[in-house]
Amino acid sequence: MAFLKVSMTNGTPNYLAKLDKQHPDVTLHFLQNEDKTVAYYEGDDTSIFAEGREYEIVDAVGDIKDSGYVVMNNIPVSDEGRPVFEDRFKNRAGSVEETEGFQAIRILRPLSGNTYVVFTQWRNEESFTRWKNSQSFEKAHSQSGPDHKGKPSFIDGEAYITQYHMVQFSEE
Ligand code: HEM
Repeated sequence: MAFLKVSMTNGTPNYLAKLDKQHPDVTLHFLQNEDKTVAYYEGDDTSIFAEGREYEIVDAVGDIKDSGYVVMNNIPVSDEGRPVFEDRFKNRAGSVEETEGFQAIRILRPLSGNTYVVFTQWRNEESFTRWKNSQSFEKAHSQSGPDHKGKPSFIDGEAYITQYHMVQFSEE
């Protein structure tokens, strides 16, 4: 089975707006925080960015929207741990998509490096925070997660989160 790809690249807003114009036929989404601006692409074409971080989509629910709030959980996984990790996500609770303010989720397998990304998109930061403090989050992580004693064996380093607002570049 062929997996759809995701590619992400960083750049100045100016550069990314230009990239957007150069590819009128594809949909790019833009994410921004205090540190950086990121272009997000989803599809078959892996060569869209000169220096993209590329992933295969292992699981997806919901369409990525142009507005909202994104939280990515970046989880380093050992080579031998990959099947176990992916299996855990195949059997994930599935309650996040029932949550108020949820927009989309992508489980992303890295094409280089060892860091999987659990990409979640929310209507706003509050909806994410509410889920993070909920029983639903706790249950989904009863065998893993920040408060779990003892790291699951497939994790090969520290998981870290990155958070962004969706932004749009106005047409000029
Ligand atoms: C050290 C921190 C974390 C680790 C190691 C971790 C790992 C995992 C693992 C292994 C699963 C699959 C279910 C299981 O086997 O437990 C899972 C589910 C999930 N994780 Fe995390 N996680 C962490 C924190 C977070 C954070 C901060 C987010 C925020 C985006 C997040 C988002 C999710 C989502 C959306 C699911 C699926 C829940 C569902 O299906 O309802 N995780 N996580």
